[in-house]
Amino acid sequence: MADQPTTQRFVFPRWTNFLLPVIPIGAIGGLFYLTILFLFGASPVTTAEGYSPTQPVPYSHALHVGQLGLDCRYCHNTVEKTEFAALPPTQTCMNCHTNIHPNKPSLQPVRDSWATGKPVEWVKVHDLPDYVYFNHSAHINHGVGCVECHGRIDTMEVVHQEKPLSMGWCLDCHRNPAPHLRPRDVAPTDMHWTTNDLSDEKKSELGNQLMKDYGIHDTVYMQSCSTCHR
Ligand code: HEC
Ligand code: HEC
Ligand code: HEC
Ligand code: HEC
Ligand code: HEC
Repeated sequence: MADQPTTQRFVFPRWTNFLLPVIPIGAIGGLFYLTILFLFGASPVTTAEGYSPTQPVPYSHALHVGQLGLDCRYCHNTVEKTEFAALPPTQTCMNCHTNIHPNKPSLQPVRDSWATGKPVEWVKVHDLPDYVYFNHSAHINHGVGCVECHGRIDTMEVVHQEKPLSMGWCLDCHRNPAPHLRPRDVAPTDMHWTTNDLSDEKKSELGNQLMKDYGIHDTVYMQSCSTCHR
C-alpha cells in the first residue's frame, strides 16, 4: 500500500526517459519554424503593399473610370455573384476600340488577342496565398465598397495594391465592420461616398443600423480561423 503513491507519480513509463534530451531540440525547431513562418507572413514579399507590375497594355483606370465614368461592373462583372472578380474579355475592350484608336500601337496586344482568341496576359496585382479563402460577393452584398480594400482605383493610371491584405488587416474590419459599411442605395463601386460630413454620433448610429440591415451579427464567426482558412 505504501508504495502506490510513488508508482502513480510516473505519468510516462520509465522507458521514455531516453526521449528527454530530444524535447528541447523539438522545442527549438518549433520556435525556428514559427519564426520563419512569421518572417514570411509579415514581410512585403507576400503582402506586397504598393505592388504595381507592368501590364502588357497601358490600360488606365484613371481614364476609363475617372474620366469616361465606366462602372467597375461593366468589366469586372462577376464581382457581386462569385468569389472571383473576373477580368474583362477582349470583347469588352473591342466594344469601343474597334472604332476608337483602331491603329494605336499601345492597343496592338488587344487586337492580337481579338484576332487569335488568346486572352491578353494581364499580370495579377492582388494575390493572397492559396491557404486563404476570400470571397468578393460576400463583401459586396454586405455593404463593403471596392474602395475599402482597393483604394481610389479611379485615380490610378497603373493599378497598385493599396492595402496590406495581411491577416491583421482583414481582422481589423472583421472585429468591427460597422464603420466600413455603406447603405444599399449607394453603389458598391461608388468611389466618392463617405461619412466624413456626419457627426460621430450619426456615424455610429448609421453603422449600427447597417449591421442590422445586412444581418451581420456574428463577428465571432468572422474572426474564427476556419472562416478564412478552410
Ligand atoms: C478574416 C480572415 C482571417 C481569419 C479569420 C484568420 N486568418 Fe490567418 N491569414 C489570413 C490572411 C489574409 C493571411 C495571409 C497574410 C499574408 O499573406 O501576409 C493569413 C495568414 C495566416 C498564417 C500564415 C502566417 C502569417 O502570420 O501570415 C497563419 C499561421 C494563420 N493565418 C493562422 C490563423 C489562425 C490560427 C487563425 C484563427 C485564430 C486565423 N489565421 C484566422 C486571414 C485570416
Ligand atoms: C474598361 C474595363 C474596366 C473597368 C471599367 C474597370 N476595370 Fe479594373 N481592370 C481592368 C483590366 C483590363 C485590369 C487588368 C490590368 C490592370 O491591372 O490594370 C483591371 C485590374 C483591376 C484590379 C487589379 C486586379 C489584380 O490583378 O489584382 C482591380 C483591383 C480593379 N481592376 C478594380 C477596379 C475597380 C474598383 C473599378 C471601378 C472603380 C474597375 N476596376 C473598373 C478593366 C477595368
Ligand atoms: C466605353 C468605351 C471603352 C471601353 C469599353 C474601353 N475603352 Fe479604352 N479608351 C476609350 C477612350 C474613349 C479612350 C481615349 C481616347 C482618347 O481620348 O485618346 C481610350 C483609350 C485607351 C488606351 C490609350 C490609347 C493611347 O495610347 O492613347 C488604351 C491602352 C485603352 N483604352 C485600353 C483599353 C482596354 C485594354 C480596354 C478593355 C479592358 C478598354 N480600353 C476598354 C474607350 C473605351
Ligand atoms: C473586403 C475587401 C475587398 C473588397 C470590398 C473588394 N475587393 Fe477586390 N480583391 C480583394 C482581395 C483580397 C483580392 C485578392 C484575392 C485573391 O488573391 O484571392 C482582390 C482581387 C480583385 C481582383 C483580381 C481578381 C481576383 O478576384 O482575384 C479584381 C479585378 C478586384 N479585386 C476587383 C474588385 C472590385 C471591382 C470590387 C468592388 C465591386 C472589389 N474588388 C471589392 C479584396 C477586396
Ligand atoms: C472593410 C471590411 C472588411 C475587410 C477589410 C475584410 N472583410 Fe471579410 N467580411 C466583411 C463583412 C462585412 C463580411 C460579411 C459578414 C457576414 O456575412 O455576416 C465579411 C465576410 C467574409 C467571409 C465570409 C464569407 C462567408 O459567407 O462565409 C470571408 C471568408 C472573409 N470575409 C474573408 C476576408 C479576408 C480573407 C479578408 C482580408 C484579405 C477580409 N475578409 C477583409 C468585411 C471585411
